[in-house]
Amino acid sequence: MTERGVAVLERFIYLDYAATTPIRPEVLEAMMPYLTKEFGNPSSLYTLGRTARGAVEDARDRIAAFIGADPREIIFTSGGTEADNFAIKGVAWANEKKGSHIITTPIEHHAVLEPCQFLQKRGYELTFLPVDEHGMVDPADVGKLVTDKTILVSVMHANNEVGTIEPLAEIGKITREKGVYLHTDAVQTFGHIPVNVDELNVDLLSVSAHKLYGPKGIGFLYVRRGTRMVQFMQGGGQENNRRAGTHNVAGIVGLAKAVEIAEKEMAEEERRIAELRDYLIRNIIEKIPNVRLNGHPTKRLPNNVSVCLVGAEGEAILLSLDMEGISSSSGSACTSGTLDPSHVLLAMGVPAEIAHSSLRLTLGDHTTKEDIDYVLEVLPPIVERLRAMSPLDASWGSRK
Ligand SMILES: Cc1ncc(COP(=O)(O)O)c(C=O)c1O
Repeated sequence: MTERGVAVLERFIYLDYAATTPIRPEVLEAMMPYLTKEFGNPSSLYTLGRTARGAVEDARDRIAAFIGADPREIIFTSGGTEADNFAIKGVAWANEKKGSHIITTPIEHHAVLEPCQFLQKRGYELTFLPVDEHGMVDPADVGKLVTDKTILVSVMHANNEVGTIEPLAEIGKITREKGVYLHTDAVQTFGHIPVNVDELNVDLLSVSAHKLYGPKGIGFLYVRRGTRMVQFMQGGGQENNRRAGTHNVAGIVGLAKAVEIAEKEMAEEERRIAELRDYLIRNIIEKIPNVRLNGHPTKRLPNNVSVCLVGAEGEAILLSLDMEGISSSSGSACTSGTLDPSHVLLAMGVPAEIAHSSLRLTLGDHTTKEDIDYVLEVLPPIVERLRAMSPLDASWGSRK
């Protein structure tokens, strides 16, 4: 049986929540009025506009309170990618008089790496902090690399591929002492683990709604008061002249509803999912020989399982799992027909041959113990079959 050419399987197990999450019904319900009868433009002065404006400002208040910020420090964007671009280019262009040195890590999402490299091509100096074999930054290195020309340090809160949570609070102490702005990409942590801008000592923080059961195409950048930034989008002067463009009212309302749900459920969900994560990791390592766990063994996102199944090809595992009704991610990017190993794994010192065998399973609100048991049933024979077919040596670097 097919639906639009896609096989309809009896079982469907979604384990790619780090890529995106399904919108929660309560979120959709909260958004609907702003897609229908309350369609006003928040910049309009009549009643319909003022209703929309009220919804945007209520959402801003809730979101700001959730991260310990002032509502005026929240700037809505079209998502995580825009927030990252805004933070990096906005700080770089506004602080040219002070210097042109930016520090980041080699394991950032492309939404951070690419704007940094864009600036580097235009004369900015870019330095990468080293990461250890777990993808962890040593805060002491930040102190060593900052110069009097440094304007920005950008270190992600948690890595989207391997789940490692970075020591931001300590990094922030150093950047504060040195008078340098600290940006963090919190796209994978916001709504999943506590995020407080003062506890993390950050000046800028990027968020995307579709990673926490909200809609796609909406996010925000937190900008600490007093941070020197240039306006990122010019136009109608919305967001206090900092980011022009008609507000995505329904998206903003949806994001705030997702935050409201996270406020209530996050702590319990974090514990429940971390238990399932640990059960899955333990059993993969027990049932399959030559497995390398990627990322920090304990300081990792509650929903992230990333492994190298040495000797089997990541993309082939992904496709085989898909045939069993399981959605996963391989961590490899398919660029113009060639399979590049993950830049994150390479930066962590994983040899390219091993990095090619990576598999990421990310858990979420619908994930049950039965789902995990099903994965544990189908994954070992898939890996065994692929290893038997593969020219890669399965004994290669059999680190756990
Ligand atoms: C760490 C990280 N940063 C940024 C992004 C981009 O966010 P968006 O999809 O909202 O543009 C993602 C999404 O995959 C991500 O995981």
